[in-house]
Amino acid sequence: MTVTFPGKLPVAEGVGGIARLAALLTGPLRRTPRVVQVVGPGFTGRPWAPRVKDALRAFDPVVVVHEGPTTPDSVAGLARHLRALGADVVIAVGGGTVMDAAKAAAALADGDPPDADRVRQACAAGPVPAAPAAKVVAVPTTAGTGAEATPFATLWDLEHRRKLSLTGPGVRPAAAVLAPELLAGLSRRDLATGILDALCQGAEASWSVRSTPESIRWGTSAVTLAAGVLDRVQGDTLDAAARLELQRAAHHSGRAIALAQTSSCHAISYPLTLRLGLAHGHACGVTLGRLLRHNHAVPAGDCADPRGTGHVRRVIDFLAEPLGGTPARAALRVERFLTGCGLTPYDELDVDHHAVAAEAVTYPRCHDNPRRLDPVSLGRLLGERSELEETCG
Ligand SMILES: [Fe+2]
Repeated sequence: MTVTFPGKLPVAEGVGGIARLAALLTGPLRRTPRVVQVVGPGFTGRPWAPRVKDALRAFDPVVVVHEGPTTPDSVAGLARHLRALGADVVIAVGGGTVMDAAKAAAALADGDPPDADRVRQACAAGPVPAAPAAKVVAVPTTAGTGAEATPFATLWDLEHRRKLSLTGPGVRPAAAVLAPELLAGLSRRDLATGILDALCQGAEASWSVRSTPESIRWGTSAVTLAAGVLDRVQGDTLDAAARLELQRAAHHSGRAIALAQTSSCHAISYPLTLRLGLAHGHACGVTLGRLLRHNHAVPAGDCADPRGTGHVRRVIDFLAEPLGGTPARAALRVERFLTGCGLTPYDELDVDHHAVAAEAVTYPRCHDNPRRLDPVSLGRLLGERSELEETCG
């Protein structure tokens, strides 16, 4: 196992990472830290749960189960709980939902006990400053969101049918553990939706009009790592080394969106998730193929990136290379991966394309796409049949 420090985020990665968890909990405190472990409802049934318990036994953590989606209510409840317990360290062991709930709750555990309205206000108010009362150590048990690396948390305001984001340096975890043994037991569907999320995040943070050389570096790395293990996910033939590659792909995609954020695929995914309840990576991945093709074909008059069409095409060429060579082949590979893993492709979703497009463009990130999107052009793009269907005629 190696412990590396990319940027300012300590990351312990490798087989056996769980056993090294306790080593990450040492800090400036003179007393033993009060540790709260936040887990999902399935935690106790996981094959690796006893090893997590053993690794943390010396800290006698309070275990809190976070159920359901991350919402203003659930975050407020968890933040009150962390405050009452006087948590110094929060170990978030779970997927993106659990990690985001723990990140948001730890960031809001200071000050007055929060309620759902205060959580909504914090999402609207802007950056949460660094140094929350409780530090978060993120331990992802899926490979996709890269939430262990990002300074934001996604919340779902089900009452108002909107996706919210709590952002700021205070939301980013203090450390992360990438342990491939934690992916053991995940279904092919779970792994596939996770890697689709990582692919989209890597692609979107690279082609975004907000992209930087560094976000492009992390984003194209995420796509390259993910592309290298797509066949093994589809064929259900992952070993520990391939699982670690999946986790690295997801982590690199998180590093990429921490710099440039997601854009069009994610903006479209929100109405799909709210309408159809699709898993996040599935909802993002269904439009990756058509946006790869659409963005690569950007004409000068439609280009939203001041760096010009040459820059946009170069970036998409980089992204497409490991996925199949050309943007068209890369798009086809993604679409075949979806169907090969039993995930419904966009063409078969029961949605009104124009309504989805109209809602997607209300998210500002939709306009970080390098080719301008409006309700009409996006509705038309979503209504087109995929290349896969044309090819299979
Ligand atoms: Fe995502």
